[in-house]
Amino acid sequence: MLQQSALPSYLQSDRLGPWGIYLQQVDRVAPYLGKLSRWIETLKRPKKSLIVDIPVELDDGTIAHFEGYRIQHNTSRGPGKGGVRFHQDVTLSEVMALAAWMSIKNAAVNLPYGGAKGGVRVNPHMLSRKEIERITRRYTSEINAAIGPNSDIPAPDVNTNEQVMAWMMDTYSMNQGHTVMGAVTGKPVALGGSLGRREATGRGIFVVGCEAARRKGIDIAAGARIAIQGFGNVGSVAARLFSEAGAKVIAIQDHTGTLYQPTGLDTAKLLMHAAQHGGIAGFEGVQTLNSEEFWRLETDLLIPAALEEQITEKNAPHIRTRIIVEAANGPTTPTADDILNANGILVIPDVIANAGGVTVSYFEWVQDFSSFFWTETEINRRLEQIMCEAFAAIWQMAQEHRVSVRTAAYIVACTRILMAREMRGLYP
Ligand SMILES: NC(=O)c1ccc[n+]([C@@H]2O[C@H](COP(=O)([O-])OP(=O)(O)OC[C@H]3O[C@@H](n4cnc5c(N)ncnc54)[C@H](O)[C@@H]3O)[C@@H](O)[C@H]2O)c1
Repeated sequence: MLQQSALPSYLQSDRLGPWGIYLQQVDRVAPYLGKLSRWIETLKRPKKSLIVDIPVELDDGTIAHFEGYRIQHNTSRGPGKGGVRFHQDVTLSEVMALAAWMSIKNAAVNLPYGGAKGGVRVNPHMLSRKEIERITRRYTSEINAAIGPNSDIPAPDVNTNEQVMAWMMDTYSMNQGHTVMGAVTGKPVALGGSLGRREATGRGIFVVGCEAARRKGIDIAAGARIAIQGFGNVGSVAARLFSEAGAKVIAIQDHTGTLYQPTGLDTAKLLMHAAQHGGIAGFEGVQTLNSEEFWRLETDLLIPAALEEQITEKNAPHIRTRIIVEAANGPTTPTADDILNANGILVIPDVIANAGGVTVSYFEWVQDFSSFFWTETEINRRLEQIMCEAFAAIWQMAQEHRVSVRTAAYIVACTRILMAREMRGLYP
């Protein structure tokens, strides 16, 4: 029988990085896939991996080269969909894992997309606006053949924003010879972007957090205690919505420090302070904690909304919360996940919790195709409906199989992907 390596030759088994975490998650779901597990190898390798060189002239006249990636992990259920990250530490393994998590997320929420992701190894904070524009345009040109409204639709991720998406849409359109609004999502509203997109991920966290709290008998409106790591786009919107609903956001941590106020922080004032000072440090009238103390606070909901691999075997045993809602991608390592489960902490995984962003990106794509734009109220209503239905189906799966919500989300998602794979068959 033909012996096949489970790993593509371009990865080293002792340095798998985030892709290794993803492979472990897929292995955990395999026993629940029945006959579909015959197709599981399709999930363990990306469909298409593009590595490009991005040469640009810097403002001082020197020529610099940057490494860029676009990965399409799976397109069985529709075009690839996923963000573009600009970061000096981006690796192939990381982009592969992020693309795979997009496949799982889109299938878990039942959006008609596969999974994709892109990245450029660059620290944009060291570059001028013009230099970032040149990198964005050259990167888009280099991946031009792989992307498009029917094949793979990029969106913002870490260190990319509406402006970067506007440049991407313009570059793609110039190469096509006409404007293609639906080539990327997360664009400015004036260029075919969607109302509500900027707040969508934080809003989705709020919706799913409330659904999970209700099932655990926690009353958000009666002052449920919440701690949030990360006060950026996602963390700050979630903090505001939970505060407005009557919860007490008792602690917030960002890269500048940790604030604690047992009666609840004034999140609106804190947002103004963070916008002025570049972080939450220096906000007056509240206590400060060191970063380890943050993870030991007694809370009802804990929301990691910053970076990957924040909850590890080191801090997981000390966490005293009832529910963790993963707003960041991949914030919990598999070992930490086991510790949390053993301690009876309910973990709502990233692939469902933070799917609000891609859901409104889907609305943006649909609106661009039809050139008919919805009101913000309509968008928020549809977002809530999709998130609640997806969460309910996954919750029911978790109860039926007596598995974690993460495993249940993977069962739902992998079943949908592999069923599509099987029904389509192999070409040629
Ligand atoms: N923005 C979206 O639509 C979206 C969608 C899905 C998932 N996510 C994920 O959510 C997370 C946050 O994204 P965002 O858009 O809010 O990013 P952001 O850059 O706006 O905010 C990141 C926040 O994390 C904080 N942070 C950074 N390093 C930290 C550290 N060492 N300790 C504590 N805090 C730290 C920063 O201070 C900042 O408050 C990321 O993992 C991202 O992949 C974002």
